[in-house]
Amino acid sequence: MIHFKKVLFEFNNGSGIKDTSFNIESGEYVCIIGPTGAGKTTLLKLIYMDIFPQKGEVIVDKYNSKKIKNKEIANLRRNVGMVFQNPELLNDRSVFENISIPLHIQGLGLKYIKNQVNEVLSKLGIEDKKNHFPNQCSGGEQQIISLARELVKNPIVILADEPTGNLDPASSLKVLRMLEEINNEGTAVLMATHNFTLVEDRGYQFMQIKEGEVTL
Ligand SMILES: Nc1ncnc2c1ncn2[C@@H]1O[C@H](COP(=O)(O)OP(=O)(O)OP(=O)(O)O)[C@@H](O)[C@H]1O
Ligand SMILES: [Mg+2]
Repeated sequence: MIHFKKVLFEFNNGSGIKDTSFNIESGEYVCIIGPTGAGKTTLLKLIYMDIFPQKGEVIVDKYNSKKIKNKEIANLRRNVGMVFQNPELLNDRSVFENISIPLHIQGLGLKYIKNQVNEVLSKLGIEDKKNHFPNQCSGGEQQIISLARELVKNPIVILADEPTGNLDPASSLKVLRMLEEINNEGTAVLMATHNFTLVEDRGYQFMQIKEGEVTL
């Protein structure tokens, strides 16, 4: 489902991703581990085609980095959920409205949107927050809201960049359990973290990255 074939991506200063090949199949749970500056975020950006390889190719579902047209990138991202380290929520919209945005963009019907959003709110246990505004929610809650906003799209994979970055141990565990439950229902998960102790015993597949080099 996600294939890296001899991918090279370098920033001007020479850092980036070095000649990397790997495959992630549908339904897998893979954890990218590596220190700060190793290239974790860069690797995730290559998957949602925010950046493109200088050599090699990235294939995600039916999209190939060498062939994808600009207008197809939105289609790719409809199928790929992205949770960023700093949740970018709209502070002038309620939690419910924030989560429904991707579905409005797809032009789906109001009734479908309402059902879908309510279902995800209840799955993630944040129904009571739906009429709040993001700045009335804690950092951990905002992280969960941004996960909800991706889940409503029914993506084939969730990319989660340090999803527990700003959270205390209890909230971190809660987010990990949510991602595991989502994975149990068939969605692939690719999460990046520098906190190995948090994830080492959870039975994930690990991918190590150090100075842009990936080892499986
Ligand atoms: N836009 C950019 N321009 C130049 N260099 C960049 C850019 N973005 C990242 N880098 C460099 O690329 C390397 C990898 O960065 P990346 O953000 O992928 O690391 P990371 O593993 O996600 O780190 P962290 O754990 O701190 O989030 C770093 O050396 C970083 O300084
Ligand atoms: Mg990063």
